[in-house]
Amino acid sequence: MIYFDNAATSPVLPEILDSLKTLYKDYYANPSSIHKEGQKARNLIEKSRYGISQYIGCNADEIIFTSCATESNNLAIIGLAESYPEKNHIITTQIEHKSVLMPLKYLSSKGYKIDFVKVDKNGVIDLDHLKSLINSKTLLVCIIQGNNETGVLQDLESIGKICKEKEVLFFTDAVQSFCKEDIPLQYIDMFSISGHKINAPKSIGMLYKKEGIKLTPIIFGGGQERGLRSGTESPQLIHSLFIAVDYWNKNKDKLLNHLKYLHSSFEEKLTQNIQEIEIVSKDVKRLPNISNIIFPKIDAQSLIMALDTEGIAVSSGSACSSGTPTPSHVLKAYGYTDKQALSSIRFSFGIFNTDKEVEAAVEKITNIYKELRTFF
Ligand SMILES: Cc1ncc(COP(=O)(O)O)c(C=O)c1O
Repeated sequence: MIYFDNAATSPVLPEILDSLKTLYKDYYANPSSIHKEGQKARNLIEKSRYGISQYIGCNADEIIFTSCATESNNLAIIGLAESYPEKNHIITTQIEHKSVLMPLKYLSSKGYKIDFVKVDKNGVIDLDHLKSLINSKTLLVCIIQGNNETGVLQDLESIGKICKEKEVLFFTDAVQSFCKEDIPLQYIDMFSISGHKINAPKSIGMLYKKEGIKLTPIIFGGGQERGLRSGTESPQLIHSLFIAVDYWNKNKDKLLNHLKYLHSSFEEKLTQNIQEIEIVSKDVKRLPNISNIIFPKIDAQSLIMALDTEGIAVSSGSACSSGTPTPSHVLKAYGYTDKQALSSIRFSFGIFNTDKEVEAAVEKITNIYKELRTFF
């Protein structure tokens, strides 16, 4: 199997797999218990929190552990809205992940006004439009750093400067970009990440919240995570997240160079073989591991299924819950037609992929595409 779906989820690091048995055996106690075993589990959590904070460049108590980035995004958006009821206007984009768009839709049903900043045909936001949307009722600007379907990166520093100047809060979903792209912390009030996108297990997420910003919890109970996220913490998952962050940071140059090499080699080789493909947002700054390709006149679902039969795992941005695929809301926002959006496939590379896999995949994709082209 050639796994080119690392933006959906990534394989767990061998270092983590090797340590999990010991972690579950030695740190089984409840970290909120006051006995020695409980305190041992608590110490592991706090050591991991501190370790992650050192890489982010923040205070340890600015980190809130959650179960996933969907929860972090909900906590950031709804928790902030609840804390600042005097402001009822939020600015976002049409290219956010559903875990940002859906809590905003919920707030809109409660009377909040949600505005969307325009993006150009490459998916880059219009900074002048953003400026023009901010008013005295604006609480928050909520803009993704690296898009999960196309890899397009936004200029967080410029967005953050506007937010600072206009005195509004700025939250970014950094799920796909974390460890791959710097986060200009001085311009950001909150950001979310997810363990399973950086080779840690699923069900561990994190929210960074700058000191002094008020946040109301969305889950109530025992008051863990300084009252912001009740529920017994998992020392094992939190420590696994630390191992992944540590691994990515210690090997950053090597990992990023490897991803960049796979990414550009894939795009170059595929373009040589199939000239009519379109690489979405080819000429703007993108993450080093996501290639979104439009295969003209081909139905992406057929291509994905044919590739799966040949042992290549990839995704499309279209949702297919009802049997009829709906075109990706991200590509639609870029200005692509339904037909183009339904012909797009996301290839996302990971740190364990190899050059040989890229070569083998390009050959298979080319053959399958040429075969399918005769049917469409
Ligand atoms: C950009 C982005 N935000 C949020 C999420 C949600 O992350 P999780 O699976 O941890 O809930 C994802 C997952 O695909 C994502 O790509």
